[in-house]
Amino acid sequence: MNVLVVGSGGREHALVSCLRRTSPSTEVFCAPGNAGIAADATVFAASAEDAGGIEALRAEVETRSIDLTIVGPEAPLVAGLTDRFRTAGLRVFGPQRSAAQLEGSKCFTKEFLARYEIPTAAFAIFDDAAAAHAYLESQSMPIVIKADGLAAGKGVVVAADREEARAAVEAMLVEKRLGNAGDRIVIEDCLRGSEISLFVVADGEDYVLLETAQDYKPIFDRDRGPNTGGMGTYSPYYAVTDPVIQKARETIIEPTLRGMAADGAPYQGFLYAGLMLTESGPQVIEFNVRFGDPEAQTVLTRFASDFTECVERAIDGRLTGYEPRWDPRHAVCVVAASGGYPGSYEKGQPIYGLDKIDDPDVEVYHAGTAESESGGIVTNGGRVLGVTALGETRGVARQKVYGALERIQFEGMQFRSDIAAGVR
Ligand code: AMP
Ligand code: GLY
Repeated sequence: MNVLVVGSGGREHALVSCLRRTSPSTEVFCAPGNAGIAADATVFAASAEDAGGIEALRAEVETRSIDLTIVGPEAPLVAGLTDRFRTAGLRVFGPQRSAAQLEGSKCFTKEFLARYEIPTAAFAIFDDAAAAHAYLESQSMPIVIKADGLAAGKGVVVAADREEARAAVEAMLVEKRLGNAGDRIVIEDCLRGSEISLFVVADGEDYVLLETAQDYKPIFDRDRGPNTGGMGTYSPYYAVTDPVIQKARETIIEPTLRGMAADGAPYQGFLYAGLMLTESGPQVIEFNVRFGDPEAQTVLTRFASDFTECVERAIDGRLTGYEPRWDPRHAVCVVAASGGYPGSYEKGQPIYGLDKIDDPDVEVYHAGTAESESGGIVTNGGRVLGVTALGETRGVARQKVYGALERIQFEGMQFRSDIAAGVR
């Protein structure tokens, strides 16, 4: 069976690796992939973020007799990849465009949550700056301003005071700094509590909850500096206890899947629920219509059932009664990033030492890497590698990761030294 993974990051390398490890009879393809993925799968060029790119990918999938396509990032889903593939009779795992609105439009999501009485922060929606400013006058601070559309992680401002809130409204609605993504905004109450993420594989009706993971977003140790896509993760995450999970299933995950189905947009694919654990229970901060990156690197490394089977069951609406097996060990992933990330950074730096990693419990997932003309591997993005290890304890896994990182080098390489340390 030929399975294609769409995407080019560390999450996609983890998906490719998981398919190879757990589904031996599966032939794995990836488009466009990266230098590390190219060693594990057949890669070919693709950019499926608009109708033209999706059409070109569909033709390629038919030519290569791909039986099943798994979509990693959100952009192809929001652009309608799933709808186009389904119309062409192709099997694809990922929500159709109408369901991908759960990530593509924060206004859609808030209105959906309100309609189904799913816990989330109180909010109002604006496309007019004067009305937004007037509303701010009546609200207490801090407050959260969110651009409606996809904004590459830059669309949310947690404003400490009115001045900051007004500036965010101006930047989005008047100065159009986020382009069309900021044509409408959500202004919502600031929730207090600790944040967790839950990851689900959904079949349109039923779902499987995947193992938990903790993410480290800020670039520097002790959570200093600007936010990134994620600098490290570990799984399982002890703070997500069974009662929390049970409550989130009943009050958030299940009503969301029921609501989407009732609205004629049944949700099939990975669903990532970003939740705040407040005094009154878990509340939705956001949904993503994809797996987390780098959370996938630790969670999928622990996935021990046939992953192709899991995805096939989801596509066919057969998840009821399905329970995947998990490696009971702990997984830790530390991201090695380019100097300057999340700001500007150089590409094309040679990466040394990848051949020195020989521990079978260590996996080096590639993210922003490419093959140079001379055949070596060079940096090609902000987040470059996700060094991941399994261990009997979190501490053992952590030691293996940092041991491996000592052997890897590239100019400007930076990574956090406190991933999976202490109680966080
Ligand atoms: P989002 O892109 O919606 O996940 O927002 C990015 C980050 O902003 C979240 O991970 C939270 O830390 C924070 N955030 C978003 N919405 C809220 C809220 N209503 N209350 C408090 N923090 C929030
Ligand atoms: N690591 C957070 C994310 O994937 O958005």
